[in-house]
Order: sequence, then C-alpha cells, then structure tokens
Amino acid sequence: MRVGGEGTQLKKITIIDRRHESILRLSNDLERRGYEVRTYADEREALGEIAASRPDLVISELALRGMSGLQVLAEIRRIDPRIPVIIVTDHENTQDAIDSMSEGAYDYFPKPVDVEKALTAIEKALELRVPEARRSPPGESVEIGAAAARLIGKSPEMLEIYKRIGQVAVSDAAILIQGESGTGKELVAQAIHRNSRRRNGPFLAVNCAAIPETLLESELFGYERGAFTGAVARKAGKFEQADGGTIFLDEIGDMSLGIQAKVLRVLQDKSFERVGGRETISADTRVVAATNKSLVECMKKGTFRIDLFYRLKVVSIFLPPLRERGEDALLLAEHFIQKFNYQLVKSVRGLSPQAAELLRTYDWPGNVRELENNIQTGVLLNKTGVLIPEDFPLYLERKDGRSRPGAGPGSGDLAEAFRAILEPIFGSLSVEQRGSVYDRTIRDFEKALLRLALEKVGGNQVRASRLLGISRNTLRGRLERFREDDEAGSGRSGHEV
Ligand SMILES: Nc1ncnc2c1ncn2[C@@H]1O[C@H](COP(=O)(O)OP(=O)(O)OP(=O)(O)O)[C@@H](O)[C@H]1O
Ligand SMILES: [Mg+2]
Repeated sequence: MRVGGEGTQLKKITIIDRRHESILRLSNDLERRGYEVRTYADEREALGEIAASRPDLVISELALRGMSGLQVLAEIRRIDPRIPVIIVTDHENTQDAIDSMSEGAYDYFPKPVDVEKALTAIEKALELRVPEARRSPPGESVEIGAAAARLIGKSPEMLEIYKRIGQVAVSDAAILIQGESGTGKELVAQAIHRNSRRRNGPFLAVNCAAIPETLLESELFGYERGAFTGAVARKAGKFEQADGGTIFLDEIGDMSLGIQAKVLRVLQDKSFERVGGRETISADTRVVAATNKSLVECMKKGTFRIDLFYRLKVVSIFLPPLRERGEDALLLAEHFIQKFNYQLVKSVRGLSPQAAELLRTYDWPGNVRELENNIQTGVLLNKTGVLIPEDFPLYLERKDGRSRPGAGPGSGDLAEAFRAILEPIFGSLSVEQRGSVYDRTIRDFEKALLRLALEKVGGNQVRASRLLGISRNTLRGRLERFREDDEAGSGRSGHEV
C-alpha cells in the first residue's frame, strides 16, 4: 500500500480508545501500512495533542470516560473542521449513527470494527477532506428527544440509511425518499425532522394520493374567505402552518401536474398564494417528499414534471425492501412482539424456530408494514406464549397459494430469464469465443453472481457465502481466480475484461 510516497510527510492518525481488541488490530494494520499512529485512552490528553499537532485523521470511541465522543467530535471540529473524524461505537445503534453523521463525522463504525472496511474508509478520508459545509452552525446543539419512534435494524443497508439521515438532516434542502410500500418512508421523514434544526417546529404530513385535487390545493396552500362555496373564513394551508418546520408530502407521485407546478415554485422561491387570494405568502418550510412509484416511469408517462423531479432528486434516500435487510426481519419481529404485548395486554415470549425460519425466508412484498400486521395478528391469536407459523396470516395465504413467498423472479426455473439475457449476445459470443463459449459464459456468469452477492451484503465474505450457500473458502478461491484472470486480461489487452 502506498502512503505518502518519498519526500512527503507520513500521514498522522490519532486514535482515542480504551483498548478494544479490534481497534488495536486496526491500529497495527495502519502502522504496518506506514501511517504514524498515536493512541490515547484519555480524551483530554488526545485533544491537547490534536490541537498541537493537527493529525490528518482522528478515530474516536463514542463512549469515553469523561466526555462523550460527540463532545470530542465537536471539540475537534472547533480546533480544525477539516480533520476527518471517524466514530466507533460499542453497539450498532440507530441514533448513534445519525448523531455522529449529523455532527459532521466522516464515517461511523460499530465494534468489532471490520478492519478491511475501515482501512478502505480511512484511506478515502485521507484523500478527501471534509467539506466545511457539513458543519452545524455554531451554538446549535443536536440533541435528540428520547421519546422519538426508533428505526429498528442493524443490517449494513440500514446502517447506510442512518448515516444518510444524519448527513442530510442538517441542511434545509428538499429531500426525496423512495422505496417500496411499507419500507418505513414516513418514519425516515420523521427522523430527518427530529434530527434537523427544525426539530422544535411542526412536522405536518399530507398524503397527496388520498385527497382530491381541488381539496389538496387548499389543504397545502390555504384559501381566502369566499374562494369557493363553504369558504366562510380564511384558512392557512399546511405550508403556512408548518412554517419553521417540515412538511411531508407523501405519495408525491400521485400529485396532479397543476399542484406540482405550485410546489416547484415553493421550492424555488418559498412563495405561493392561497386559493382565491392575490397576496403572495412566504413560508420557511422544509419539504420532505416520498413515493413508492417510480418517478422516472411517471415522467415517461408525462404525469410528473421533470424539473420538479430534478429539484427533489438532489438529496434522495432509497429505502431497501425488507427482503434485502438480512436478519432485520427477526429484530423487527422482536420489537413488534413487545409493542403488541403491551398494546394487547399479552405476554408472548418470542418466536418458535419454525416461525423464525418463516419470517427469515419470506419475501415480504408489503415490507415492514406486512411484518407488523402479521405479528399483531399473531400476538392477538397466540395461546401458547411462543409464536408459531400457524399464528401468522401469511402462513395461511402461503398454503392457499394466494401469496407465494419466493415466487418472484428469485425462485423456480430461471432458465427463461437467462435465455432472454443471452439471446441478444449469443451471435457475437459464438463468433468471438468459438470453442470456449461454455467455459467463458459460465465463468463470467459466476463472476457476476458472486460480485453481486458481495455487493448486496456490503462486501462481507462470510455473509455472502451464507447467502450463496457455498463455503467461504470456495468464495475466496473463486474471487482470487477472478482477480488473477482480470490481471492477466488487463496485462494482455491493457483494459479490464
Ligand atoms: N425500520 C423500522 N423500524 C421500526 N418500525 C418500522 C420500520 N420501518 C417501518 N416501520 C413501521 O412499519 C409501518 C410502515 O412504515 P411507513 O408508514 O413509514 O412506510 P411507508 O414506506 O411510508 O409505506 P407506504 O409507501 O405504504 O406509505 C409503520 O407502522 C412503521 O412504524
Ligand atoms: Mg407512507
């Protein structure tokens, strides 16, 4: 690994940690790669040193003895906002990740630290420097109300979402949240509001699909007395009511073109008129929008404005479907069991192994909402204290064949789908690879499959091998071979195969 190179100074890294084993390993690895690493157990001593020597990067624990990691982070940002700080925590915790990122941390890692992943992030951090704009304004503390509804999930996919919430919450930019139905878009919108400077202002949600167009217009922008029959007095719309706070435009893909034009104007110059009014009103309202429709498809059909799409898309969050979140379904199930035990005055203790297996392998077309409904019914009907598959509505549907878990493109005979991919390229394949079509196709297919699986689990080989149902050694061996092939290929032709 190349660090600094001759003639340049060694990059300095400061670690603040109470001797956690995985961090020791990381620190050794960093030294081996030629970085100058200093480790401190005492954060005050570390801060003194940081002020004096201005390291290139700081890695700090979140729970320290005296100060909290977030205070340390704030202190470092005061000393020199350009020093990237990576926060390490004991547990994967939603709020820690959001807090760290919204306070301007460069990245966030739960313990035990995945050393490979950390090294990649560290090297990237050392190349880029943290942009000034990410800093919170001075004097602004980012404390979070404890009563807030929590987002549950520890999968790498959700960890990315928490980080993203932390990054985007601090600005006033409009945000677009996309994701299938029931993936938690509204919960994310609330989390953004709670973690923003507007948290003490109102959060108002409007479902754009549920309200007819003329009503939606007056709902959003308000109306003047006499604007239409029944308008006996002036009424402020949601944009006005949410002044200083956030408006959540849910199902924005269903909004009519006329209203889209008005929303675009609010985004561009924060102004609008009430229905039946001439006075131009301005409101300082942040827009968070969500949709489970593909806005690209809506634009193709001409039902969504391209300019509004680009305006919203600048800051967007894509919530992954539940079936791509690994073990999160089980964590969520535990969470909902507690919730419904309380609401329904029941005392269900947990899931039977068969029930856990069912929840783990089901493909959840209705995502978290469907899981929540199944647990609710299960807790309500359960007699034994442990949920069994028969307690869940989805079990019955599955037996009926009404909803067939795994019956999407992910199960059954995939040959037809692959044929459709192969057919258009088959002609050139059989010319270029004559005599080795079979080997080449199978090998490249395997390469694509393994790399895709790895990508989906955040590069973790253990999880990828479990997902694929092959041993980790097999996976490693294959990856090694692909790498050699790639190198041999690029050596020959000068570019990747
Ligand atoms: N990560 C999560 N942790 C805990 N609860 C969740 C999570 N995600 C979703 N939920 C719960 O699942 C239900 C559906 O979530 P939400 O209404 O936010 O979904 P949505 O994406 O807005 O769905 P739709 O597109 O159908 O409106 C809610 O009861 C919400 O509290
Ligand atoms: Mg919703």
